[in-house]
Amino acid sequence: MQTIRVDLADRSYTVYIGTGILGHEHPAFNIPRGSTALIVSNEKVAPLYLESLAASLSGADVHQLILPDGESYKTLEYWSRIIDKLVEIRATRDATVFTLGGGVIGDMGGFAAASYMRGINFVQIPTSLLAQVDASVGGKTGFNHLHGKNLIGAFHQPTSVLIDIDTLETLPEREYSAGLAEVVKIAAVRDAEFLAWLEDNCAAVMSRETETVSEMIKRSIANKAAVVAEDERESGIRALLNFGHSFAHALETLTDYRQYLHGEAVAIGMMVASRLSEIRGLCETGFSERLGRLMASFDLPLELPRNLDPADILETMKLDKKVIAGSARLILVKAAGQGFIDSSSDKLQIAEAINKSLSGS
Ligand SMILES: NC(=O)c1ccc[n+]([C@@H]2O[C@H](COP(=O)([O-])OP(=O)(O)OC[C@H]3O[C@@H](n4cnc5c(N)ncnc54)[C@H](O)[C@@H]3O)[C@@H](O)[C@H]2O)c1
Ligand SMILES: [Zn+2]
Repeated sequence: MQTIRVDLADRSYTVYIGTGILGHEHPAFNIPRGSTALIVSNEKVAPLYLESLAASLSGADVHQLILPDGESYKTLEYWSRIIDKLVEIRATRDATVFTLGGGVIGDMGGFAAASYMRGINFVQIPTSLLAQVDASVGGKTGFNHLHGKNLIGAFHQPTSVLIDIDTLETLPEREYSAGLAEVVKIAAVRDAEFLAWLEDNCAAVMSRETETVSEMIKRSIANKAAVVAEDERESGIRALLNFGHSFAHALETLTDYRQYLHGEAVAIGMMVASRLSEIRGLCETGFSERLGRLMASFDLPLELPRNLDPADILETMKLDKKVIAGSARLILVKAAGQGFIDSSSDKLQIAEAINKSLSGS
C-alpha cells in the first residue's frame, strides 16, 4: 500500500493506493459505529464493486444510491436525487458519502456532500484511471449546467481517497487511454523525470502491469497534491493542470461532447498547446513531436478533425472559463516538465497552431 498526504492544514487527507482494498478492512472505512454511510455509484460500476465496498463498511448503517451511467447525468436533477436520499435516510452531520465510480460520480457525490447540511464527510473511491490520477484529488466538486460544464460546484476536500488498482481490470481500453492523457499532462507541465519514465515504461503501462500502474498513479497524484497544497482554489499555479484544456473544451463543445472522451480531447489540446509554444519560440522544437509519440503509444488521438473550422475553435475559446478579459490565458511549455501560464499569444499564432494540428496537415 502506498500513501500520499495532501497537505491542506485542517483539510489534509491521505490518498491510499494499493490492491485488494475493497472487501477488506481499511482505516478509511472506519467510520463511527452505527453512523450513516451512503454509497453513491452508477449502474455500470455498482454491480462490479458495490458489494465488496458495503462488506468493508460493516458496522455502519449502510445505504446505497445507484445512478444512471454517463456525463449526461451529471446534472442538477441527479445531484438532487443524492440529496433526497440523504434526507430519506435521515443522514446527520456525522454521515459519510462514499463515491464509487469515475469522475462523474466523484464530482456529483462530492458536491452533494459539500452542500448537504453545509458539508459532510466524503470518501472518494475512484474506479476509472482518470478519476484515480486526477478527479478524485483536489476537492473540486460539482455538476454541469446546460450552458457550461462544471458550472455549479464547490471546493470540498474528501476525508480520504482510496484507490484500489484492481478496479482497473474492468475499465474499457478507451477509458484507460483517456486517463493516461491526464497522466501525460501532469508530467508534461511539472515533472520531466516522470515524462521520461512514462516513455521508458510505456509497454508495461499499456499492459496494466500492477507495479507500474501503481507507481504511475502515485507519481501523478504526488504532483497533483503538491500543486493543490500550494494553490487549493486555483488562484495561480493550479491552472497548470489546465494544459491543453482550453483547446479540449472547445473541441468537446463543438462536437457536442459526443465524439471524444475528455482525455482524448485533452490529448489533442496538448498537441495544439505545445505546437503554439514552439511557434512562439518559447519551447525547444521537437517537444510536440515527442509528446505526440508518447500519446500515440497510449492509443490517444493527436489531431483535430479536418472538418472543424479553426475560426469556430477560436470563437468557442472566448467562452471558456480560463479566458480572462479578452486575452487567451493558456498553459504553454518551456521544456519537458516546465509548464507556465501565458496570456500573450495573439490570435494569429493560436490559429497557426490550430491549423498545424488539423488532421492531414
Ligand atoms: N474534480 C476534478 O478535479 C476533475 C478533474 C478531471 C475530471 N473531472 C470530471 O470527471 C469526469 C470524467 O471522469 P471519468 O473519465 O472517470 O468519467 P466517468 O465517470 O463517466 O467514467 C468513465 C466510464 O467508465 C466507467 N467506469 C468507471 N470505472 C470503471 C471500472 N472500474 N470498470 C468499468 N467501467 C468503469 C464509468 O461508468 C463510465 O462509463 C468529468 O465529468 C470531468 O468533469 C473532474
Ligand atoms: Zn481534464
